[in-house]
Amino acid sequence: MNDTPLNLADLADLARESLPEMAWGYYADGARDQVTLGENPAAWQSLRFRPRMLMEVERRSLMTRVLGRPQPWPLVVAPMAFQGMAHPDGEVATARAAGMSGVPMVCSTLSNRSIEEVCAASREPTWFQLYVYRDRGASKALIQRAEAAGAKALVLTVDCPILGTREGDIRRGFHLPEGLICANLSGTAGEALPPIAKESGLGAYVASLIEPNLGWKDIAWLRGITDLPILLKGVLHAEDARIAAEHRVAGVVVSNHGGRQLDSAISTARALDEIQQATGGSIELHVDGGIRRGGDVLKAMALGAKAVWLGRPVLHGLAWAGGSGVSFALSLLRNELDEAMALAGVTSLADIPADLLAGPWRGAHGGDTVRP
Ligand SMILES: Cc1cc2nc3c(=O)[nH]c(=O)nc-3n(C[C@H](O)[C@H](O)[C@H](O)COP(=O)(O)O)c2cc1C
Repeated sequence: MNDTPLNLADLADLARESLPEMAWGYYADGARDQVTLGENPAAWQSLRFRPRMLMEVERRSLMTRVLGRPQPWPLVVAPMAFQGMAHPDGEVATARAAGMSGVPMVCSTLSNRSIEEVCAASREPTWFQLYVYRDRGASKALIQRAEAAGAKALVLTVDCPILGTREGDIRRGFHLPEGLICANLSGTAGEALPPIAKESGLGAYVASLIEPNLGWKDIAWLRGITDLPILLKGVLHAEDARIAAEHRVAGVVVSNHGGRQLDSAISTARALDEIQQATGGSIELHVDGGIRRGGDVLKAMALGAKAVWLGRPVLHGLAWAGGSGVSFALSLLRNELDEAMALAGVTSLADIPADLLAGPWRGAHGGDTVRP
């Protein structure tokens, strides 16, 4: 039997076999009852294509522009903490694979490898994900460090004023394995996580350092200290996307943090649909959460996304086979996207017909005849 993974679900199975339970659980779990975790992929699956035929589809273009820059296909590797648990090369291997696939990688504030190492590993832009600390001086220093390392955009995570509880992490007593550090936080209080008692030590750490009082005023503060384009990650309400556009940020990432923050938050497919309807192209929209098939990417683009961010499957590739596993995961998704385009009669992502999609919940916005 051929044991090469055929799809991202196979890859997840292989990763599970190769990871210690504590790491697998930390990567896999969502908050509380994990309702949103399950609904993210289900919402993409619930959408249906209205394919067109006789469209002369031999030549297809997956090209797109993300933050004004051309990309061979519309993917971004999402920021994910602690990739050193999946592979010793951690974020460096992920960045290299993202670069080889022609797409940006977002380096988490909580990466095990430093932003300098991550930027140096990729030939494509690296973006830096920021958690704003109560200590604004430390935050400013972190941003300046990322800029100096060569980061090309700042991703401000806005859905994490406090950490959502993953009960599995508490049960398993989640802690960073010996030898792994938060490499971007050297010189600040966070270089090593505090020891774990019964509660998740990560929660205590985040609570002690991250600013729960982040507000719209802080966007102006950020714009005052950096010229990098700013993306707000974690927007789920159309009104927030509208206010973000007023604050002249470069874009928003429609995201529920992969179901890891507010449980029962709306699925990202639905939220993207609502936000696109309300903002009508006034701000660049990206999306993540539960994207597991190339067809899901096409659906996201049809709902108005400029780029799709991929989370856990990247970690699964990394755990399975290091950087080549990440490359494998990305190529699976890209090939599936290309196939879905051909079969749907779409030859260019720049030119997706407005009526490509139907779906059960799209009726709230004018029947299932889809956006104009
Ligand atoms: C293990 C793990 C760690 C994460 N760490 C971060 C992080 O440090 N910062 C952040 O903004 N989002 C973080 N996220 C959320 C991801 O960026 C992304 O929104 C989510 O994983 C996308 O959903 P998907 O995993 O279903 O593709 C993390 C997600 C996972 C699974």
